[in-house]
Amino acid sequence: MTDLDAVLGNAGPTGLKERIAAELAAVRERSLAYTDADDDMLVRQHSPLMSPLVWDLAHVGNYEELWVLREVGGIEPLRPEIDHLYDAFKHPRKDRPSLPLLGPAEARKYISGVRGRVLDVLDQVDLAAPDPLRSGGYVFGLVLQHEHQHDETMLATLQLSRRPGLVRDGELPPGRPAAEPEVHIPAGVFAMGTDTVAWAYDNERPAHRIYLPGYWIDRRPVTNAAYLEFVEDGGYRDPRWWLPQGWEWAERNGVEAPLYWTRDGDTWWRVRFGREEPVPLDEPVQHVSWYEADAYARWAGKRLPTEAEWEKACGGRTYPWGEADPGHLGRWANLGHRAARPAPAGAFPDGASPYGVEQLIGDVWEWTDSWFQPYPGYRCFPYEEYSKVFFGETYRVLRGGSWATHPSAVRTTFRNWDYPIRRQIFAGFRCARSEE
Ligand SMILES: [Fe+2]
Repeated sequence: MTDLDAVLGNAGPTGLKERIAAELAAVRERSLAYTDADDDMLVRQHSPLMSPLVWDLAHVGNYEELWVLREVGGIEPLRPEIDHLYDAFKHPRKDRPSLPLLGPAEARKYISGVRGRVLDVLDQVDLAAPDPLRSGGYVFGLVLQHEHQHDETMLATLQLSRRPGLVRDGELPPGRPAAEPEVHIPAGVFAMGTDTVAWAYDNERPAHRIYLPGYWIDRRPVTNAAYLEFVEDGGYRDPRWWLPQGWEWAERNGVEAPLYWTRDGDTWWRVRFGREEPVPLDEPVQHVSWYEADAYARWAGKRLPTEAEWEKACGGRTYPWGEADPGHLGRWANLGHRAARPAPAGAFPDGASPYGVEQLIGDVWEWTDSWFQPYPGYRCFPYEEYSKVFFGETYRVLRGGSWATHPSAVRTTFRNWDYPIRRQIFAGFRCARSEE
């Protein structure tokens, strides 16, 4: 049973509507906080990889308009002339700054107008209707998760801008040394994916049984200390560890350490939201591409886990620790931007899976060895551009969410995907190895 089912069971549809309204308010507060900056900061493109922040802001409102107001509410388009500007498939990120986008004040006005009508639709809608967009409030889960995902993208843009003072930090629990660095997962069948999590995306469905031979998986994500050993051992200068495409990418781009790292004598520094600080050794490494993760794993005599191995290590629950909602400041995981960084290794012993694997959820997205492919029996819902157009051998799967991911937008079945060269996302990894 998910937390959402608990709400449905305990409080009925009214309780669910109250929860949705509260979550909508919370996500909007978050989006507005990340765009609480001068107009220049919002309209400028900080990297060709990212949209201007003002694009993300109006886009989340436009998406909400398309799905909640038009599809479910049957309401006429508010501003049909702007639809194409915010269609992510019509204009690649690098072209977005040259579009006639709504300015910051206009964008805020537009999204708040949409939101007012969304609350009216929420008030009227029957959440027990059999229609899959209405049932269990799916369409609201869709727009909520979508906005949180863009909020995480906005954080990546804010990090790329290197402007200090825009992103708050916070406290995290201390780390602990690990008794055994690896955990053994015995051979056997497990159920991958879900049929029952109410707001799960199409790509997480259906649940299906998979047999995996026994394997070992790292108890925690790879830390900066461990990654530094690879750097100091000349890992970036030795093609033995790299796939040919990865080696070529690293050479062409002069990559020799994680993004945002620089060396000064014997000390490695990093830039984090405009502040320079020594690289903290006990934190999971972040801002590495899939190619770097893959090379590190080979150097370490291991490999990246498949996404099935990653998910099995969670122990078959909605979260590794069970069914309890992680919340914003839960004792299980570093999620929801409680601090602007991953937590030290070992900071969340209560969040371990039944196998004893830690920090699977939160801290850093974890690269896996798997391509983003449909599960057997996949059915596209509610539209092809959510998942289907991305399936194939172009994107690698990431699992588990990062410190920047909101608790309502991650679970053990959640699948993220990105290009193997991507580094600005809050991604790290852990390693695995097959049984001898
Ligand atoms: Fe989007």
